Amino acid sequence: MPIDVLLGLQWGDEGKGKVVDVFTPHYDIVARFQGGPNAGHTIVFNGERKVLHLIPSGIFHPGTQCIIGNGVVLDPVTLRKEIEGLIDAGIDVKERLLISQRAHLILPSHKLLDAASEQSKGDKKIGSTLRGIGPTYMDKTGRNGLRVGDLLMEDFSERYKTLRKKHCHMLDALYEGFEYEIEEQEQQFLDAVEFMRTLKLINAEALINDALAEGKKVLAEGAQGTLLDIEFGSYPFVTSSNTTTSGACSGLGVPPTQVGRVYGIAKAYCTRVGSGPFPTELHDDMGEKIRKEGSEFGATTGRPRRTGWLDLPLLRFAVRINGVTDLIITKADVLSILDEIQVCTAYETAEGEVHEVPFDLEHARPLYEGQPGWKQDICKIRSQEEMPQALKDYLHMMEEYLGVPVTYLSVGPDREQILELNREKV
Ligand code: GDP
Ligand code: IMO
Ligand code: MG
Repeated sequence: MPIDVLLGLQWGDEGKGKVVDVFTPHYDIVARFQGGPNAGHTIVFNGERKVLHLIPSGIFHPGTQCIIGNGVVLDPVTLRKEIEGLIDAGIDVKERLLISQRAHLILPSHKLLDAASEQSKGDKKIGSTLRGIGPTYMDKTGRNGLRVGDLLMEDFSERYKTLRKKHCHMLDALYEGFEYEIEEQEQQFLDAVEFMRTLKLINAEALINDALAEGKKVLAEGAQGTLLDIEFGSYPFVTSSNTTTSGACSGLGVPPTQVGRVYGIAKAYCTRVGSGPFPTELHDDMGEKIRKEGSEFGATTGRPRRTGWLDLPLLRFAVRINGVTDLIITKADVLSILDEIQVCTAYETAEGEVHEVPFDLEHARPLYEGQPGWKQDICKIRSQEEMPQALKDYLHMMEEYLGVPVTYLSVGPDREQILELNREKV
């Protein structure tokens, strides 16, 4: 069987957690392939809201195995809290959660380095979630990192102390005036490391490839979004991993030839948390209206999300880079209040009007086309026959521009609020 990939096409928070949860009954395994506890994936069912940061969003379905892949950076403290929270809620996690021995560990000192680096940037801050993501990936590529498999080695404690010492030297030398206290965090980390030794720490690439060879179905779950990708995102205002389809291959150890469907998720508008270019951002009442209607506040940090209109050139860029086969549009219900919806179809730049994504996104001025709104509550619709014509037209316009079919439409946060679309009839 091929492996299917599900990932975000914008700046994260597209609703990946919700859709992975909806898809999970069709899969034997759900595997996270990159990022770390900077992610916040929300799942709503039976009137309850759950937020996952590290554990794959398939965990609420009892028959499914969940894997944290080698591409993920893992904070033992967050992982422990998350597992204990799920156990308290009656979810059997320990048997079904498998963790790659190759995944890198986030140390307390990585979080301090993240905070110190952000503080030193002043008004050039990236707006990091301060979960230690950047410094941990830096140690990974710098070949200094500690991995999950190292927890089982005799010299773990020694290697931990050496790396911590190096980080403290860096903090003292590079970030004068940055005050920190590491002892309490360190004790929590060491306790969580002890806890992790009781988990299933495995050779995940072997398990996944064997599963695929046996005909099992595997879904790769992305974190963040394509526009936060280290290669193709709005650098330097990005995260430190490959959030794209290629990241699923390197982050799980599956060959590109094994990739099946690529489900790309986008909101019916745009949001962004943290700094960086956002051509269609709305700084006015409309932006506020969308933020309020869409409850656009970060699932990890609680920060208000910046809001703006749908940006089709950026979306087409994301569709191409990922080889998206199916588009999933979420939060269409949020736009139900609007008389007219604007959509960016090109940019005005120093070189004139362009339809591609320019290198200098900061200075690209969006050019819009207006679309009539549907002005109808769509939260309760469950079939495409019930869809208002203006909504059908909105999706159709996207498909025409992007060249990919919209196969699912999400109309609310709950697991039940989703429609599978029959392409022929949209
Ligand atoms: P993720 O990081 O991609 O998993 O997305 P988040 O969970 O960070 O943010 C998405 C937010 O939108 C969450 O609060 C979801 O419960 C909510 N959500 C998901 N899909 C829909 C939808 O179709 N409509 C509405 N109104 N909310 C949605
Ligand atoms: P999910 O998986 C939205 C953003 C941060 C910041 C930048 C770098 O929930 O979609 P980092 O902590 O990675 O160094 O932050 O990336 N960011 C996210 N924005 N959703 C996320 O994850 C994000 N993870 C990181 O706000 O701008
Ligand atoms: Mg999120």
